Amino acid sequence: NSIAAIVPAAGVGSRMQHNAPKQYIKLAGKTILEHTLAKLSQLPQLSRIVVAISDTDPYFDELPQIDSRVIRASGGKERADSVLNSLFFLEANPPQWVLVHDAARPLVNIDDINTLINECIKANEGGILASKVKDTIKRGHTYSEQTVPRDDLWQALTPQLFKYDELKSALQNALVNGVTITDEASAIEWANKPVKLIAGRSDNIKITTPEDLDLAGFLLNKQQN
Ligand code: C5P
Repeated sequence: NSIAAIVPAAGVGSRMQHNAPKQYIKLAGKTILEHTLAKLSQLPQLSRIVVAISDTDPYFDELPQIDSRVIRASGGKERADSVLNSLFFLEANPPQWVLVHDAARPLVNIDDINTLINECIKANEGGILASKVKDTIKRGHTYSEQTVPRDDLWQALTPQLFKYDELKSALQNALVNGVTITDEASAIEWANKPVKLIAGRSDNIKITTPEDLDLAGFLLNKQQN
């Protein structure tokens, strides 16, 4: 059951209003990307940790080395392209499973990742960390048109764990067909394959906007103490 991690980290972070991409913002003494890689480095099951980085990114090679399993691959135009490029990067010696985790989610809990890995391998099916929607959800534009029943609504988190072959063909097919792919699970669903929902901590936030930084900094400090 070999598992490689893929960390999409080739975004420009346009919603962050910051010069460098958001994964290089420092929180609690380290860049967001270093925090994320430090979390993954606590997983001995991972054979390789492929980080998708833009070819024009001058920052990544300047980071202190965190783990000897970390390898740089080329990112792509969208997140899905970055993941697909990383899958191609692993093609010569493919793992059985790939664990895809956003660079922008440094708060992920290690026990949650282990639960995801154990449950998926036990069931021999792919799956994702997700958390039940807590808020009341409205559909609409200027006015609310509808309150969406939330009993079966989940917020998709990462990591997401899928079989290497299944994910590669699902992503390729979905991209060729112009399907909007915002996570690995959307490609797998489109291929009519199962996606197990594994409940994870909801503080595994994706740092996207400036408001997220204060909260993430607070939580990272708390985790380190
Ligand atoms: O932009 P968003 O927050 O959805 O990005 C999620 C993750 O995907 C981030 O870690 C970002 O660096 C990565 N990404 C990527 N390649 C892109 C766009 C985003 O690896 N072209």
